[in-house]
Amino acid sequence: MNPADDLIVAVHQLEEPASRLLPESVWDYVSGGAGDETTLTDNRQAWARQKLAPRTLVDVSDLDTSVSVLGRRWPHPIAIAPTARHTAYHDRGEVATVAGAHACEARYVQSSLGGTPLDVVGHTCRELGQDWWFQLYVQRDRGFTRDLVAKAVAEGASALVLTVDTPTLGARDRDKRSNLGSPDGVQYPILADAPLSTQDDVPAHRRVFNPLLAPDITWTDLEWLIDLSPVPVLVKGVLRPDDAQRYVTTGVGGIVVSNHGARNLDTVPATADALGVVVDAVDGAVPVLVDGGIRRGTDIAKALCRGATAVLVGRPVIWGLTTYGSAGVSHVIDILRTELEMAMALLGAPRREDLTPDLLWPPGRDGSVT
Ligand SMILES: Cc1cc2nc3c(=O)[nH]c(=O)nc-3n(C[C@H](O)[C@H](O)[C@H](O)COP(=O)(O)O)c2cc1C
Repeated sequence: MNPADDLIVAVHQLEEPASRLLPESVWDYVSGGAGDETTLTDNRQAWARQKLAPRTLVDVSDLDTSVSVLGRRWPHPIAIAPTARHTAYHDRGEVATVAGAHACEARYVQSSLGGTPLDVVGHTCRELGQDWWFQLYVQRDRGFTRDLVAKAVAEGASALVLTVDTPTLGARDRDKRSNLGSPDGVQYPILADAPLSTQDDVPAHRRVFNPLLAPDITWTDLEWLIDLSPVPVLVKGVLRPDDAQRYVTTGVGGIVVSNHGARNLDTVPATADALGVVVDAVDGAVPVLVDGGIRRGTDIAKALCRGATAVLVGRPVIWGLTTYGSAGVSHVIDILRTELEMAMALLGAPRREDLTPDLLWPPGRDGSVT
């Protein structure tokens, strides 16, 4: 079974087959958002709302999607977002995802809530020569957190991605009904030895906090992490310009504009809408990445025009993994990469430097487009 033979030509085509293959509770966990899912809808629509203003009569015969991120050249700007427990979607779990990432030359970000032990992820990446980053959920036990960071780095993670938007999970109605998203009865091998606190010992319907997420994480922890980490620390989950500036002065290596795939605080802005204010606040000091609702190459072109260095893709990778394993993961990224190339050609922007804000509609008063 091969996604190209099955005429999978657009990322969204994988959503329905994935929904049929997964148990209902797992599908709800993957596809759902927080609250009334206002931001979930908006994440997608905001990219579509932004219109493009193509330049004409430009020689686009030589397209180059490569970008530079933290001193490394990526052949294209599409990375795999950290998402939990790939073993719930495919029997080879994260090992299959890594193989798919490698086949399509995408950076891979390993979640703290992965379903595969870190040494297996590290080994697989080393065998393939695959670059990867480690997404960190700071644990209540900072000693365990320190050891976890050391382990990820020893296994080859070339950057840490500290998730800063999740002192706890959002009000995910679907998961509350199925009790998914709570660690009860679910194995997270990377955090298997994390000492858990008992303070969450309240009835499920009154539970706010999650034993695997530190609700007391602050700027002091970030300073501590930057200090102890031998690799760059990016922060994921930034929406405010003032926070973004403070992250830069604190010494982060990069910022990911994200609302956690609309799974945490409902009614925050779509990331397509928040990206610009963060890019302006950061003013080129560090790379700014963005995720949330990216399903088309035009979405990526728009993100890059507004100043993003690269994008991450979450749910579509899970759809690909569920339906076709590694081949599905690489097919998702290949579709997006090809669509990005088409968009660049049609925008008259054959290289990353040509993707500038003036390609975003509407035109400015001087006839330029801003
Ligand atoms: C099923 C699922 C699990 C996720 N798990 C994590 C996680 O463990 N750590 C994290 O920082 N973000 C997690 N995220 C958020 C993603 O990293 C990313 O921000 C989001 O999926 C991007 O939006 P998209 O799914 O619309 O592409 C998860 C998202 C999904 C859908």
